[in-house]
Amino acid sequence: ELGPYSHFMQKEIHEQPKALSDTIDAVLGAGFSPAVFGDDSGRLAAAEGVKILACGTSYYAGLTAKYWIEAIAGLPCSVEVASEYRYRDAYVNPAHLIVTLSQSGETLDTMEALKRARELGHRTALSICNVSESAIPRASDLVFYTRAGAEIGVASTKAFTTQLVALFTLAITLGKQRGRVDAEAEAGYLEALRYLPGSVQHALNLEPQISSWAQAFASKQHALFLGRGVHYPIALEGALKLKEITYIHAEAYPAGELKHGPLALVDSDMPVVVIAPKDTLLEKVKSNMQEVRARGGELFVFADLDSQFSDSDCVHVIRTPRHVGILSPIVHTIPVQLLAYHVALAKGTDVDKPRNLAKSVTVE
Ligand code: F6R
Repeated sequence: ELGPYSHFMQKEIHEQPKALSDTIDAVLGAGFSPAVFGDDSGRLAAAEGVKILACGTSYYAGLTAKYWIEAIAGLPCSVEVASEYRYRDAYVNPAHLIVTLSQSGETLDTMEALKRARELGHRTALSICNVSESAIPRASDLVFYTRAGAEIGVASTKAFTTQLVALFTLAITLGKQRGRVDAEAEAGYLEALRYLPGSVQHALNLEPQISSWAQAFASKQHALFLGRGVHYPIALEGALKLKEITYIHAEAYPAGELKHGPLALVDSDMPVVVIAPKDTLLEKVKSNMQEVRARGGELFVFADLDSQFSDSDCVHVIRTPRHVGILSPIVHTIPVQLLAYHVALAKGTDVDKPRNLAKSVTVE
């Protein structure tokens, strides 16, 4: 069942080009139309905003999507951890579309958050889910099934990146309906999707380089992950993967927040992972990296080919593929998954079944 791989997590990381192209095929066939989400009655067109509810890694997919939905569709988007939303008196605009994200479709808190949204009066709920006929899609009006295939490793990998494709598609669909995405822009987004599986494969090919970093982390107690903009949620995801499978305490910050507290933690015992592709924020990220270096912190940088970093004593750089533009957060997920996986191997922890965790969380 594992083929050439040692663990389900490694196999599932490597299945991402296929999982992504299967999910993208579903989109391309229907061309960013509401039908992709099972909508034939104008429900998406009526959305005045988007509220995303999810837990864990799925929540980080939601945080990433907020950048796309606001920029591409021009709609307000809020993202909330399901276990918080379900117990509070949240602001309600009934025309705000509820989007739940769940790999398993059975996560209790996400299900209860969906029920809470209904109670509060939200009219339409879309489920993005990887398991057909599971509880959450059954309780939703609209459904998009990601085509990641069965995910067995407890740590979510291919489900996350395929959720991102679904959410990117949602942003474009909403943007088209609102007249913000013209034919030319749409063609550009389609092309970005077509190139994505290839760029992800390129990132997977970095595995030997990434594994050469593992030992430097395996002996540490803590790690810090930094990103900015749409790569900040990817830093969060990298920190979560590292803590859940290696038991190393990891935190993620938007790099601009360093000075507001976490910089006090930085010393030579704190490896700092930076996601630094060449986007509009790169110069800002570089100055944040200087702040870390000035405190003796060791930097481990994922930079794409265009971002012109050079290796030095305490600055280690791995080059991800040429900058892929708007889908860059998906491509940059791969190296942080592989890093967590190889650190776990170096530490000898149980990669597929981390202590205290379950694949499907059907209790509160
Ligand atoms: C982390 C992880 C969890 C899940 C979370 C939600 O790697 O797998 O954080 O993402 O338990 O699960 P789903 O998406 O099934 O609702």
